[in-house]
Amino acid sequence: MPGPRHNELLGVLKASDDIVQKMRAAAEAAMKNAYCLYSDFRVGAAVLADDKIFAGCNVENASYGLTMCAERNAIFQAVAAGALSRDKKLKAVVVVTRAKELTAPCGACRQVIYEFCEEADADIFIFGAKGAESFKLSALLPHAFGPKDLAK
Ligand code: THU
Repeated sequence: MPGPRHNELLGVLKASDDIVQKMRAAAEAAMKNAYCLYSDFRVGAAVLADDKIFAGCNVENASYGLTMCAERNAIFQAVAAGALSRDKKLKAVVVVTRAKELTAPCGACRQVIYEFCEEADADIFIFGAKGAESFKLSALLPHAFGPKDLAK
C-alpha cells in the first residue's frame, strides 16, 4: 500500500517524519547560500505546499531595511510555482539556523504564513544547534488578521 500523502499528515507532522527531514535538508542547503553580509546570521527555510518542497534563505541589502527573510523567500517561491494560492494552503514551514538559541519566525513572516494557511494552521518546525521545537502557527500568532477579515 502506498504511504500517506503529505496532506493527510497535516496536523500530525513530527520533526522526525521523513517529509520534515527532507524539508530540513532543503532548508539547510538554502542556508548555505544565505546572503547575510551585515548580520552574518544565516537562515534557511523550507515550506510544504501542494506536496512539494520550496526552500529559501535570507537575503540582506546594504540599505538594511530591504532585507528579506528566508521564510518569506521560500513562500514566495511556492507562490510563483503555483503551489500556494487561495485554494492551495501552506502545510508546514521548517526554519534552520546555526544559532545557540532556537529561532522562531519573525512577526512579519508569521503574518505571511497566516495569509496562506488560515484555519489550516500550519506546523512550524525550528531546528538549531540545540535541537528542534515545533509549534502550530496559531500558537505563534493568535487572533490573526487575514483574508477572512476582508471578506465582504
Ligand atoms: N531572519 C530570517 O531570515 N528569518 C527570521 O524569521 C528572522 C530573521 C534574517 C533576517 C536577517 O537577514 C537576519 O536574519 C538577522 O535578522
